[in-house]
Amino acid sequence: MGAKAILVSTLFGVAVVAVVIAVAVTETKKKGQGSGGDGAELSTRSEMINTICSPTDYKETCTTFLSGAVNSTAKPKEVIEAAVNVTIEEVTKAFNLTHDLAASGNGTHDDMTQQALENCKELLQYARDELHDTFSDVSANDMKDLPSRADDLRNWLSAVISYQVTCLDGFNNSSAKETMEKGLKVSSELSSNALAIVTELSNIFASFSISFKTGRRLFSEEESPEKLQKDEYPEWMSAEDRRMLASLHPARRPTPNVVVAKDGTGQFKTINDALNAMPKTYVGRYVIYVKAGIYNEQVLMDKSKVNVLMYGDGPRRTIVSGSKNFVDGVQTFKTATFAVVGDGFMAHSMGFRNTAGAAKHQAVALRVQSDQAVFYNCRMDGYQDTLYAQTHRQFYRNCVISGTIDFIFGDSSAIFQNCLIIIRRPLDNQQNTVTAHGRTDRREPTGLVIQNCRIVPDGQLFPDRLKIPSYLGRPWKEYSRTVVMESTIGDVIQPAGWMPWDGDFALKTLFYAEYNNKGPGAITTGRVNWPGFKVITDKREALQYTVGTFLDGASWLPASGTPFVQGLVH
Ligand SMILES: *[C@@H]1O[C@H](CO)[C@@H](O)[C@H](O)[C@H]1NC(C)=O
Ligand SMILES: *[C@@H]1O[C@H](CO)[C@@H](O)[C@H](O)[C@H]1NC(C)=O
Ligand SMILES: *[C@@H]1O[C@H](CO)[C@@H](O)[C@H](O)[C@H]1NC(C)=O
Ligand SMILES: *[C@@H]1O[C@H](CO)[C@@H](O)[C@H](O)[C@H]1NC(C)=O
Ligand SMILES: *[C@@H]1O[C@H](CO)[C@@H](O)[C@H](O)[C@H]1NC(C)=O
Repeated sequence: MGAKAILVSTLFGVAVVAVVIAVAVTETKKKGQGSGGDGAELSTRSEMINTICSPTDYKETCTTFLSGAVNSTAKPKEVIEAAVNVTIEEVTKAFNLTHDLAASGNGTHDDMTQQALENCKELLQYARDELHDTFSDVSANDMKDLPSRADDLRNWLSAVISYQVTCLDGFNNSSAKETMEKGLKVSSELSSNALAIVTELSNIFASFSISFKTGRRLFSEEESPEKLQKDEYPEWMSAEDRRMLASLHPARRPTPNVVVAKDGTGQFKTINDALNAMPKTYVGRYVIYVKAGIYNEQVLMDKSKVNVLMYGDGPRRTIVSGSKNFVDGVQTFKTATFAVVGDGFMAHSMGFRNTAGAAKHQAVALRVQSDQAVFYNCRMDGYQDTLYAQTHRQFYRNCVISGTIDFIFGDSSAIFQNCLIIIRRPLDNQQNTVTAHGRTDRREPTGLVIQNCRIVPDGQLFPDRLKIPSYLGRPWKEYSRTVVMESTIGDVIQPAGWMPWDGDFALKTLFYAEYNNKGPGAITTGRVNWPGFKVITDKREALQYTVGTFLDGASWLPASGTPFVQGLVH
């Protein structure tokens, strides 16, 4: 049906996938004599800078910084490089500022402010790393290839914006916040500009008469040879997923590089010990098998830990558990029991938990910054803020996610497919919200998509599910974007569907949509009438929020061996 493509392959066996790369070469008509196509014949430097700055929101900042950064012989590509380069410079200044404030402030700031400064340092370092990756990519590619790199570039630049916002969110109305706001003003404007330029690259190129390529990959369907296994798996799991899990039978699991076992039957007794012993550089997937047990430790998979696969004995048997929380004085960003920064992380058959409870407010079980992260057959259990899907592209399949307030939140592009979403009982004066997406710039390609999932109350909420209100989401930031489609929504969800954050904040700018849902909570006649809310009726529009289009999943999910539906399920 349409672009639907189901892909099943064994996790580390040969991925039986046929890749078809369709490259469309767009030749635009050249101005003047039109040779070369590199824009060399462009008139003056300032005209060129004006054209490149034309899609930005902060034009004066754009032209001022670019005029100072390129000389009269610069070509368009050098100007685009410079747009990234000046952003690095300004983010570095802000980083230096937090460094100085944190160093001088110890003892003079309250503890939360000191933590906020330390977190800013960390977040701005992530932003710098991301900008360096962006710069390398832009300079390594031919001008004409840049538009085909737009997805990645936009993904990275969105994270740069997001990290700066998260830094500021750590402060309350203190003078430290004012100082940081000032310190981040220019870098935030330049980051937004860079995203605008990259987003409008095709148009900019067209106006320069530069020819360019765009590409999109397509995948064929394949069936797994695995036999269907009925035992051990929950009712709601599809046959296809059971086959996938069957292929992960202990005897057939990928050989781990290391085994973690609480009972001493592996090389390490804690996950942290295994991570500390991980080689600094490793080519290929580094596989960590964590045997059954409850691991009471806080885990941070830092940036250097890329392409790690961690698997357990099942989401209820191998559990990483913690209870850090805001009420006890830890900033939300640092409450996560398990945090993943390194790209290409994959987890399966594991549980992640924060047991702080509703009274402790923000308490994250899992925080994910990892680009192209995959979670398969996992559980994330908590109350407020269970799953911080912070930045980049993420895919969750056959997971169980439980919580109360904003329990799936962040500024990532994340799709939850075939998941069970469980709403728990909050404090008596609280209201539940499944999502709180945090997009701050309308050009960020980020959003949360819930597809073919079930949204239900847990046993403790069930008797009071109509009295204690629960909603699909609320706008954490101005351009919050969430789509719920092809899902079964229980009567636990209020007829209004969505809840405001604060008065009319973001109600015009957010994008909340529903498509082809069923169940008593899916009736849309009583829904909010905000300008930003819509019921999608056109299948082509719904397709924009599916794995193939929204995550460009066909280019990276097959390597994970995870089953996924690329388009619509029904
Ligand atoms: C202009 O800048 C480029 C690279 O930034 C450099 O290679 C070139 O020599 C410069 N030209 C002049 C005239 O300064
Ligand atoms: C990037 O900026 C730095 C510092 O301003 C400058 O020295 C360097 O030449 C710039 N590089 C490019 C390629 O623009
Ligand atoms: C940031 O600090 C480092 C180390 O003190 C210094 O070398 C660098 O020039 C500073 N950069 C900016 C942009 O302030
Ligand atoms: C905010 O203000 C209160 C005092 O009014 C302080 O206790 C708290 O730690 C401050 N900082 C943050 C970042 O919340
Ligand atoms: C912080 O200040 C702003 C504006 O001055 C105000 O609207 C907001 O309520 C204040 N927040 C807190 C937590 O005090």
